[in-house]
Amino acid sequence: MALSEKIKNTINGIRHQFPTEQALLIPTLLEVQNDYDWVSLEHMKDVGEFLNLPLSKVREVASFYTMFKLAPMGKVDLQICTNISCWLNGADKLVACAKKKLGVAHGETTADGKFTLNQVECLASCGTAPALMINEDYYENVDEAQLLSLIAQAQNDLEAGKVVGKSTRMEGVWP
Ligand code: FES
Repeated sequence: MALSEKIKNTINGIRHQFPTEQALLIPTLLEVQNDYDWVSLEHMKDVGEFLNLPLSKVREVASFYTMFKLAPMGKVDLQICTNISCWLNGADKLVACAKKKLGVAHGETTADGKFTLNQVECLASCGTAPALMINEDYYENVDEAQLLSLIAQAQNDLEAGKVVGKSTRMEGVWP
């Protein structure tokens, strides 16, 4: 499997704005994830071939950022930050609340395939901790009541066939 023409065209269209092939690594991985919902090892090999980079370099970057999903996820990826600011402001309560509500532990997906729960390190929203993400949407100063409301809203949206938390997807982002 090689990268799709759509992804190649997108990346080729912005190539002139990036100083090196390596600088195109994150945009290319984002495009892959947008199209396939996660980044497999095969995808990483394809990205390496396309950008003429070793697989080790691609894996290094893809595995560093938690925004890259290296395994299939539920339709809703609930990421709760448990780094220091969030922890001091109640992230442990949010994690316990989410575990109880969804019946899964960190890194697990609900049996119906709808929710994956992940604890992550710093969502860069330390001043408005605790923070979490639902797919690509940010929520700040979250308490347990709001978390339960967000989960209920996501459930309703899924049942209504709506896409959840994709408002910041990368389409149209590249200049
Ligand atoms: S510590 Fe949670 S956003 Fe930084």
